Amino acid sequence: MSRPIQALIDLSALEHNLSVVRHYAPRSRVMAVVKADAYGHGLLRAADALKRAEGFAMLEIDAAVRLREAGYRQTILLLEGFFSMAELAWIEQYHLSTVVHHHEQLAMLSAYRAHGRLDVFLKLNTGMNRLGFTPEQFHAALETLKVNSFVGQITLMTHLARADESAGNESVAAQLQCFNAVAEARNLPRSLANSAAILRCPDTHADWVRPGIMLYGASPFADRTAKELDLHPAMTISSKIIAVQQLKSGDGVGYGHMFRADRPMRIGIVAGGYADGYPPYR
Ligand SMILES: Cc1ncc(COP(=O)(O)O)c(C=O)c1O
Repeated sequence: MSRPIQALIDLSALEHNLSVVRHYAPRSRVMAVVKADAYGHGLLRAADALKRAEGFAMLEIDAAVRLREAGYRQTILLLEGFFSMAELAWIEQYHLSTVVHHHEQLAMLSAYRAHGRLDVFLKLNTGMNRLGFTPEQFHAALETLKVNSFVGQITLMTHLARADESAGNESVAAQLQCFNAVAEARNLPRSLANSAAILRCPDTHADWVRPGIMLYGASPFADRTAKELDLHPAMTISSKIIAVQQLKSGDGVGYGHMFRADRPMRIGIVAGGYADGYPPYR
């Protein structure tokens, strides 16, 4: 007998949400972020629903290869890049694109002898402070790529830390200014916007937008619901009540008694928890 909890995936919702991305960023190419098995929706299933996107982005090279082998011909970008020379050979063989965000990757790329050319997204850290070269390091990194005859198209990218805050916020403006100052004199394609920036910061759209969460039907904002943004949920979790408890006023429920009854009540226990991907009660 199988457990009653189920995740139902609505592929038409993914397709619809991609059309919402197009509505907000009509002049940009779309790099659909499908990392972590398409945020748990199933990579190949999600990719089929998102097949009109001009590119896919993910972290895992084996997933990227699977996507290529499934017949997708568009750009497939590795958001953390590669971790060894061996992976560079895979990147070349499967015609993947790679982020380059630190010196070790630059050095491996310089040592690699390719048969063709590898497309690179060079990442600038403009304030997210996770991945990317500092503005001071950026020009040297770019020059290293430019003199490498095995590097093909170079795209400049960054990632925005606080685009989910109110429109026109200063953090996005500062990151954009930092990015533009570095990218200004370079006639290269650019990519900055995640879901929140697609929806709220049109001046960040540039050549490629990189939606993740909005494709799956969730709002990136605390102050606007998915429904208000016309995003459709791609996943619905359903389950059943498998036990009923009668509580007295003051009784606690679950780990740490996080829920406490403020009156006598009857409660239903639904099969499902954080191992199923359902967030713990807070
Ligand atoms: C580099 C990069 N771009 C885009 C995204 C998509 O972001 P979001 O889910 O906020 O749209 C992610 C996700 O973490 C990311 O790491």
